[in-house]
Amino acid sequence: MSVIDTLLSRNSTKQITGPGPSEEQIQQILSTAMCAPDHGRLRPWRFKRIEGENIGRLADLAVKTLAAEGKPLNPTKEKNMRDWLGRAPLVLAVASYVDYSNERIPQHERIISTGTAVMNILNAAHSLGFGAFWSTGIGTYTQGVPEALGFDELEYQFLGFVVIGSLIAQPEQKERPAVADHVSVWEPNLD
Ligand SMILES: Cc1cc2nc3c(=O)[nH]c(=O)nc-3n(C[C@H](O)[C@H](O)[C@H](O)COP(=O)(O)O)c2cc1C
Repeated sequence: MSVIDTLLSRNSTKQITGPGPSEEQIQQILSTAMCAPDHGRLRPWRFKRIEGENIGRLADLAVKTLAAEGKPLNPTKEKNMRDWLGRAPLVLAVASYVDYSNERIPQHERIISTGTAVMNILNAAHSLGFGAFWSTGIGTYTQGVPEALGFDELEYQFLGFVVIGSLIAQPEQKERPAVADHVSVWEPNLD
């Protein structure tokens, strides 16, 4: 498949299971994140690999932390999250390093750069035939979950999780918006 066709055919999906990517494929996927555009060579993107039994521990941590911080999941949402993560062979926690030593590059540019690194991961996973989904559930917006993953809120902007696995079913091709609805040509006023 051409690169363009790969980009056009990616669809996020939670319908995944084991096996996950091999170690070689994980390295390939993560290497694409290192190619993300990055102002000032700050390399702000950070990832934690969560695998095997630790994925269940992440689900436990999220449920416990959300409850402790006054945002408990209802039973249906908890079950859905546990079912999804219970099938997942690989989870990547994503954060952007704030780096207070650099005041020249605004913080939002680091976050954008980390977002583009995730985009490369989603496309690389798809290109290798895996399904993936970026989620800011799983206790992303708690204090305790990022902290337990080593992403202290003073140093990192935590950006959630990418869950990757083998496809249970081919994801449905979403209808995408028309380019013309999002793009226009600038005509300068030359008066
Ligand atoms: C930063 C970020 C966080 C997201 N978090 C969630 C989430 O918590 N729950 C959810 O249902 N979709 C979430 N999404 C959307 C899905 O990852 C996915 O993009 C969406 O379902 C559309 O599918 P597509 O990627 O095939 O267009 C998030 C997307 C982004 C960019």
